[in-house]
Amino acid sequence: MSKQLLPSKPIIAPSMLKCDFGDLEQEIQNLESAGAKTLHLDVMDGHFVPNLSYGALVIEKLRERTELIFDAHLMISNPEKYVDSYIKAGCEWITVHIEAVPEPEELLQKIRNAGCLAGIAINPGTQVSEIELLKGKVDLVLVMSVEPGFGGQKFQPIAISKVEEVRQHFGDDVLISIDGGIGPQTIPEVAKAGVDVFVAGSTIFETACYETAIREMSEIARTHSLSYN
Ligand code: DX5
Ligand code: ZN
Repeated sequence: MSKQLLPSKPIIAPSMLKCDFGDLEQEIQNLESAGAKTLHLDVMDGHFVPNLSYGALVIEKLRERTELIFDAHLMISNPEKYVDSYIKAGCEWITVHIEAVPEPEELLQKIRNAGCLAGIAINPGTQVSEIELLKGKVDLVLVMSVEPGFGGQKFQPIAISKVEEVRQHFGDDVLISIDGGIGPQTIPEVAKAGVDVFVAGSTIFETACYETAIREMSEIARTHSLSYN
């Protein structure tokens, strides 16, 4: 895993779904000064999930305005048809859903060949056994702790044991990311279970001070995790 693709842990990844889309440039500047290292980009197609957000054209323009790592979460059907445009748009991490691409080996390899980190995401209803065979073939496992599609939902505790299972099976070779309902209340348990990347939408964008929100979450994660160095 190349160093510049990986900031130090814990990684708090603001989810660009609850931000002010009318002033994205300002939002990004605010997140940069608040200490964010990564932007979690929620791409939704209105088909794989019942919501529509933004795609590669928007991301390409954001790329011109920031050096932050782009963590693209593709909640789209047939990601193999579109992945090239996300690579070209300048995403560093690209995650696809196992429910959208049941045999993702080739696609993950393509993402890696492009110099990006390749991620696989699992919905709350999908078992870890569904991605077991991807050991050695993925750089990141994203455990959804809500049904994908919308921000502001309640954290589903089933995700905690899944994180433990992922860590046990994949070892330290993967980054584990958790997405949905993440904030000061839920971070202690998921950090302890082995999460490296904490995706947070509402917790950041519904506070007055992004810097405080990011710092507080990092501190809580650091206190409860056994594994950051
Ligand atoms: C949901 C998205 C999340 C979402 C998280 O499908 O993948 O990234 O924005 O939002 P919160 O943090 O509000 O649960
Ligand atoms: Zn997401």
